[in-house]
Amino acid sequence: MSVLTEKYILAKRLRRNRRSEAIRKMVRETELSVADLVVPIFLIEGENTREPIPSMPGVERLSIDLMIREATELSERGVQSVILFPVIERSLKTDGAEEAWNPDGLLARAIRELKRELPGICVMADVALDPFTSHGHDGLTNEKGDILNDETIDCLVKMSLMQAEAGIDFVAPSDMMDGRVGEIRKGLDQGGYEQVGIMAYSAKYATSLYGPFRDALQVKLAFGDKRTYQMDPANVREALLEAQLDEEEGADILMVKPALFYLDVIAKLRQQSKRPIAAYHVSGEYAMVMAAHQNGWLDAGNVFHEALLSMKRAGADLIFTYASKWVIDRLEM
Ligand code: PBG
Repeated sequence: MSVLTEKYILAKRLRRNRRSEAIRKMVRETELSVADLVVPIFLIEGENTREPIPSMPGVERLSIDLMIREATELSERGVQSVILFPVIERSLKTDGAEEAWNPDGLLARAIRELKRELPGICVMADVALDPFTSHGHDGLTNEKGDILNDETIDCLVKMSLMQAEAGIDFVAPSDMMDGRVGEIRKGLDQGGYEQVGIMAYSAKYATSLYGPFRDALQVKLAFGDKRTYQMDPANVREALLEAQLDEEEGADILMVKPALFYLDVIAKLRQQSKRPIAAYHVSGEYAMVMAAHQNGWLDAGNVFHEALLSMKRAGADLIFTYASKWVIDRLEM
């Protein structure tokens, strides 16, 4: 072997940078931190009440008092933000979704009490009608079953103002109506809530992975599916356009949802936008891993850590995940 070839081969020994944990840590390109996580919490009425969600092992619906205890524990471990999802009793669901902007409803009370107990934590909530409509769609409908865009936006603005009044930090429109971010921004500003942010579910796909979430919220679609408003999983240019419009309309954070099947979308959006990007590691992504874990086929802690790291590597800044405790355990190791 000539001296030159020898030199060339030695220069290519990439394993030198993997030799010890100290070296691996030193050259690590992507860091996952507790502060990146946004933890979803499902809310129910009652006191000291918790209900397991069978399709989401380890996740429970919590009454407001237990939610506050949970948020306190998460906050002590370094979590900065939670997103609240109210489970609405059947009797309160209507075609007009009026409960969505009830200032004394479950969500409003939860936001108020959480901000009173933990003023430092960042609180988000969805802006979409699906927990509140009798048919389970994210918008108002006509007799034919069309989802009405502009009529729905009026409701979303009312819902955002109710949340802002209760003390929300970020409203999170997850409905995929056209033009809603701009109208919500206008409504918030006119209401004197220019400091309230908009975390837009910009590229939200009509995926098969939301099933366990709908179990958790006890939402069943009475007819049709969400493909006339959520995105076609086959499209990526359209996702970039959705995100661009949301940004122009005033979104502060742009989201891609679900996460792992859509890492290409996250990576491309990272190139397009200077705004923070959120990834939503959705209920179906959580359920798949937990099912394998319960069978002894995969280790949930390891898989979740790798999954979340991949989202960061793709370009996400923050990650909504049900797997926070698994990942925080790992990060504290
Ligand atoms: C409501 C909403 C959904 C999710 C978040 N907000 C469900 C849906 O659009 O059907 C899904 C989250 C998850 O699966 O974890 N618009």
